[in-house]
Amino acid sequence: MAEPKQTGTEVSEAQIAVHWKEEETYQPASSFIAQANLTDSNVLERYGLDNFPNCFKEYADLLDWYEYWHTTLDHSKPPYWKWFVGGKLNACYNCVDRHLPKYKNKTALHFVPEPEEERIEHITFQELYVRVNEFAALLRDFAGLKRGDRVTLHMPMTVDLPITMLACARLGVIHSQVFSGFSGKACADRIVDSQSRVLITEDAYYRGGKLIDHKEKADIAVAEAEKEGQKVDKVLIWQRYPGKYSAETPTVEGRDFFVNDVLKNYKRAVVEPERMLSEEVLFLMYTSGTTGKPKGAQHSIGGYMAYVTGTSKFIQDIHPEDVYWCMADIGWITGHSYIVYGPLALAASSVIFEGVPTHPDAGRPWRVAEELDVNIFHTSPTAIRALRRVGPDEPAKYNYDFKHMTTVGEPIEPEVWRWYYNVVGKKKAVIVDTWWQTETGGFLCSTVPALHAMKPGSAGPGVPGIHPIIFDDDGKPLPAGCGKAGNICIQNPWPGLMQTIWGDDERFVSQYYRRYCKNPDSKDWRDWPYFAGDGAVEAPDGYFRILGRIDDVINVAGHRLGTKELESAALMVSEVGEAAVVPVADPIKGKIPHVFVSLKPGIPASKEIEQSITDKLASEIGPIAKPGRVWIVPDMPKTRSGKIMRRVLAAVANKQDTGDTTTLANPDVVEKIKQLA
Ligand code: WTA
Repeated sequence: MAEPKQTGTEVSEAQIAVHWKEEETYQPASSFIAQANLTDSNVLERYGLDNFPNCFKEYADLLDWYEYWHTTLDHSKPPYWKWFVGGKLNACYNCVDRHLPKYKNKTALHFVPEPEEERIEHITFQELYVRVNEFAALLRDFAGLKRGDRVTLHMPMTVDLPITMLACARLGVIHSQVFSGFSGKACADRIVDSQSRVLITEDAYYRGGKLIDHKEKADIAVAEAEKEGQKVDKVLIWQRYPGKYSAETPTVEGRDFFVNDVLKNYKRAVVEPERMLSEEVLFLMYTSGTTGKPKGAQHSIGGYMAYVTGTSKFIQDIHPEDVYWCMADIGWITGHSYIVYGPLALAASSVIFEGVPTHPDAGRPWRVAEELDVNIFHTSPTAIRALRRVGPDEPAKYNYDFKHMTTVGEPIEPEVWRWYYNVVGKKKAVIVDTWWQTETGGFLCSTVPALHAMKPGSAGPGVPGIHPIIFDDDGKPLPAGCGKAGNICIQNPWPGLMQTIWGDDERFVSQYYRRYCKNPDSKDWRDWPYFAGDGAVEAPDGYFRILGRIDDVINVAGHRLGTKELESAALMVSEVGEAAVVPVADPIKGKIPHVFVSLKPGIPASKEIEQSITDKLASEIGPIAKPGRVWIVPDMPKTRSGKIMRRVLAAVANKQDTGDTTTLANPDVVEKIKQLA
């Protein structure tokens, strides 16, 4: 393998990674292959660039359309791609109504409450149909929501969340679900950006054995949103225990309504699904980027639904008779695509788990799997690391039978992968390591489970119809399979890709396309590779290994946090003069943020200031943003032009060599910071 180019003394994470050894591969079990949805060994050729974009007809044909589309891909205005143009459909109809003739008595959703003494709830497709219709009627007639309106959801993991999403989809209302762990302030920012005048929340939910008051965040969200100019006139509150209020926070007369009370007026209501254009918007999902403000990835109905249904069928290998459990939170894109829309479009039974996987002990997931006879299991490296650490021998004690397992969200260490395969999968379940993003709607790289060997730590080739390429910093493509690190891009558009950033076309183009666009005037999609913002290497066998973010994003336990968001929260503490946030390796969460601050002149360092910074990050963003450590430093290491050298801080925090710092404006400060370590 050729030595990577070294730039000065700076050795990036990517360059170190190319020295990783090639891992041994594992073959899918013959029992898996015998039942798999996709066994056609020509599939990657069938979905080759020569057949682009027509290859995606197969995905669109998995859906029911009111009107069939006439144009597969309209690329007349790059990079605003339009898929399945002329088609009309409804996402809720495709996830619910169309299954009734065959599957009305089959479980659509299993709800697993965190307290183990509470019974698991099984909601059939018929019951889902009834509940979604009643709630859709409420949204339309009581909340006054109509096609094209945005509504913000700040809901935990209960069945009320998919019911709410599907009811919105039925009406053509655009939902924007905010992860329940995010703070009221973070929710407010998303209410303002999406101009929502209705907030849908839940009174309380269980996490780690505690019933948490969630309603209090709604009050903060509404107050903060109003300060920023967005008035919320109705707050709809689902109840964790219908008919009973489980939060302490008082309700506000005329603004707050209990869903279960209002629903009484909509018993057995039926709402005709709106016939939506393929190109209309299904939902917004906010995510962190290089600048402070979260951006709303805007997903279409036709393209998105076709893509998540196709990849759920071919990569997740979902059949209607499968019991499928994705342990992610529906508040993230993984939950939207691969708990709700993809599996339900295929009439699978999808599990919704309320709580923490290691509560009350590390045997919990395997007990749930045994009880529900789950056969497809989907989770993140962070959860796998945690379960491996606290209960390495637990899976063997339970009698469940996985055929397929997924890992998503962060790179997985080969050692952790092997525990997942040997112990959780009992050397039988096939594993797919799926690399993708909020922006991409569905999987980008993964093995096709019945066709490709698995390689621990590598996602695999592009999935059918996705053609990755690695560019160097100067925009030159690296030779395929050369094993050198660079920036991974996708050569072609695909149906699941977001349409734009909500209300910010300029940011959409500048963040994802400007860097590697070959000709901004071109109408040819070949000139518009999608820039993902991840470093990657391609091995000679065509497998991609993802190395992590190259921009200012920290991936904490599979959740994207923008360093700028964290820094601006730290700067809200009045004593703080400057702040810089860097990612630090963590054995469970992959990466955690460390915050470096210098204080305003004359203010002495103190534990109290450290604590108020930690608290500020938790209240502004949420507990997942809590820093591993707050470092109060005498000054920030800076370049001569005044830029904070985060690389130097990251090296100190990660106990690595800081390299050559002599060109800094203040090299002596580095020594002082090192002494704090
Ligand atoms: C990272 C989550 C390595 C990557 C679906 C990406 C991964 C970011 C993998 C997107 C994987 C996701 N291996 N890294 N299998 N999957 N990532 O938007 O850095 O929350 O850019 O979407 O997670 O995170 P997001």
